[in-house]
Amino acid sequence: MAEKGLEGIIAATSSICSVDGLEGKLTYRGIDIRILAEKSTFEEVVYFLWHGQMPTRAQLDELSSQLKACRELPAPVLAALRAWPKTANPMDVLRTAVSMLSLYDKDGADTSREASTRIAARLTAQIPTIVAAFHRLRSGLEPLAPDPSLRHAANFLYMLTGEKPSPTAERVFDICLILHADHELNASTFAARVTVATLSDMYSGIVAAIGTLKGPLHGGANTAVMNMLLKIGDLNKVEGAIKEMLANKQRIPGFGHRVYKTWDPRAMWLRQIAEELGKSTGNMKWYTMSRKAEEVVWQEKQLYPNLDFYSASVYYKLGIPPDLFTPIFAISRISGWTAHILEQLADNRLIRPRADYVGPIDQPYVPIEQRTN
Ligand SMILES: CC(C)(COP(=O)(O)OP(=O)(O)OC[C@H]1O[C@@H](n2cnc3c(N)ncnc32)[C@H](O)[C@@H]1OP(=O)(O)O)[C@@H](O)C(=O)NCCC(=O)NCCS
Repeated sequence: MAEKGLEGIIAATSSICSVDGLEGKLTYRGIDIRILAEKSTFEEVVYFLWHGQMPTRAQLDELSSQLKACRELPAPVLAALRAWPKTANPMDVLRTAVSMLSLYDKDGADTSREASTRIAARLTAQIPTIVAAFHRLRSGLEPLAPDPSLRHAANFLYMLTGEKPSPTAERVFDICLILHADHELNASTFAARVTVATLSDMYSGIVAAIGTLKGPLHGGANTAVMNMLLKIGDLNKVEGAIKEMLANKQRIPGFGHRVYKTWDPRAMWLRQIAEELGKSTGNMKWYTMSRKAEEVVWQEKQLYPNLDFYSASVYYKLGIPPDLFTPIFAISRISGWTAHILEQLADNRLIRPRADYVGPIDQPYVPIEQRTN
């Protein structure tokens, strides 16, 4: 008997990330996510995910310099971003631009560990540039060159807004990147692993992953959360709106999870950040609306918020438009996707499950002239 949605099926061996859905515990290579979010930076986490050890100062400096050196886009990709419709979905733009990057990468189809690690660095550095450049172009602004004096998180916010972020904004965004970096065999990571397990290349794996992340049941939920909050618009309307959605059998974006049957530890962190950001800016509207939604969903369905619920109001408070929330998820998750691809390639076997056939058997073949359906 097939397990619908592969629920509970162990489909790979991995030493990158563990999720304890009953205890609400998430670790990257054995270190609790809460410690990493509190003490490390996104660049350190990227190194850790790829190489299995936290970097020394020298190793971190080397990776940071490598990422900074790769941020610029090949000229034809930037030209394509200028040519594409300004109304395009930013996830479609990201998926297409990443596919295009493969045409200009001399390592493109090489699946050796050395080449794949170089590609991973390029993708990690260039995805933020794509997202920021497209947003500026669609807003009628010129894309900004990356600033090598800024670290990964700050450079993205700068390329997006044209302003160097405050230390608080930089740190909040860095924590968001750490919290989204990996999550075991989530749908997009699985898609990436399936793709490269055919010995296709890393770019193809990442294109598959971006396409998978886009859906509202996965990464697309953060955009859907903010659109829902904006549509509701007022604290007093939250209860009625949520109850109406549930009565209409609609899913409430940002709630429920396949693995967590308790609090998602990332959601807990993001809720705290959303509250602090609200207090520091004197605007608690999105936080209080979110808390109300959390209360009503709990009363009605006993579902916990997931990562995407509070990340939505955090990003919004940082001045980021809702349709960029999912591309921002990709800016972080590229680290986990590429770590999983490296792991898959190191001990590869084609991923090819079976289906439980439930269709008709021994059907007669009816010539086309005699078919009546
Ligand atoms: C994440 C998600 C896809 C997991 O789905 P799943 O493991 O397949 O869970 P199921 O679809 O089997 O749902 C189990 C039950 O909870 C309900 N449920 C789950 N998430 C729900 C939500 N967000 N809103 C309303 N009901 C929800 C289902 O309707 C179902 O109820 P039922 O048994 O009365 O029919 C699902 O919770 C969801 O759609 N959430 C909203 C999208 C989202 O936030 N995605 C980001 C995930 S990190």
